[in-house]
Amino acid sequence: MLVLITPVVLLLAVSGCFGEVVDSFNQTCPEFFANPAGKVSPPTIFADSNYKQICQIRENAYEYATFYDTTSKIPVYSAYKFVGFMNCTRSESWYIEPQLDNRENKRMSSDERMGTLQHQAVNADYKNQKKPKYDRGHLAPVLHAVSQGCSNATFTLTNAAPQLASFNRGQWRVLEKNVARKLNGICSGNSAYIVTGVVPGDCKDKLNARVCIPSHFWSAYCCLDNNLRVKASCGFLGQNQNVPVISMSVTDLENNLINLYNQGDFYIFDGHCRENQICP
Ligand SMILES: *[C@@H]1O[C@H](CO)[C@@H](O)[C@H](O)[C@H]1NC(C)=O
Ligand SMILES: *[C@@H]1O[C@H](CO)[C@@H](O)[C@H](O)[C@H]1NC(C)=O
Ligand SMILES: *[C@@H]1O[C@H](CO)[C@@H](O)[C@H](O)[C@H]1NC(C)=O
Repeated sequence: MLVLITPVVLLLAVSGCFGEVVDSFNQTCPEFFANPAGKVSPPTIFADSNYKQICQIRENAYEYATFYDTTSKIPVYSAYKFVGFMNCTRSESWYIEPQLDNRENKRMSSDERMGTLQHQAVNADYKNQKKPKYDRGHLAPVLHAVSQGCSNATFTLTNAAPQLASFNRGQWRVLEKNVARKLNGICSGNSAYIVTGVVPGDCKDKLNARVCIPSHFWSAYCCLDNNLRVKASCGFLGQNQNVPVISMSVTDLENNLINLYNQGDFYIFDGHCRENQICP
């Protein structure tokens, strides 16, 4: 028996599946994805090797999950659970993900003294911008964080993409607030899951000639009742401009994203959470 088991244990150890850049969200941090009818339902995972699954850790706990594109140096999406307004304060430190650039540390870390990293954005990419100005726009936002530790952990560049400053501080902020208020009402006592993503577009516009400025920001939620049935869902899509974000069904958002990502299929909740549309 021992002879059989040992290679398996060794294999697990070297494949690093308890690290932060993981082989599968499902195995390491399934708790951040809606599980309608008990089935963990992550969004579509693109197969190319430039895409990485990250179970985000700042201190000692997984806080949310991010699917990251090391080529465009922006995330595809972040996924998390929403539990209510926790009134967290904003951290001033922005981190990077050491494992994306072959460092061992599985916790997000400061990019000071690491220089320019090949596989992700760094703080310097956002400095010395010409107009218009782009913020490090959060996907999983402080306003939806479940704890101060989680709020701190949202300040990683793997959870951010260049977002027009007026949009980040304007209509996108309005959306984050409206979604939180809505879920606080209709999903109170139940489980609310949110996925927020960006579309790189043609990537002609880059910050510091490195980081794609996304064409669109999108978000969707799925509220499950205590029997894991879909109680409410809604999708949102906006260009990277400060104009109101459009609400639509999850199915309509998925159809838009199929075109925008130029994919054969794109699922936000693995094909579930398409019913009971209730939008703010
Ligand atoms: C893992 O995720 C996929 C979708 O990406 C899903 O089809 C599969 O059932 C999941 N596995 C488990 C064990 O939840
Ligand atoms: C956050 O603030 C709101 C409004 O001030 C309050 O109603 C709510 O209870 C606070 N939440 C927590 C977790 O302290
Ligand atoms: C959050 O970050 C601040 C510093 O930015 C630190 O003082 C605080 O202890 C952190 N909180 C948690 C819960 O990690």
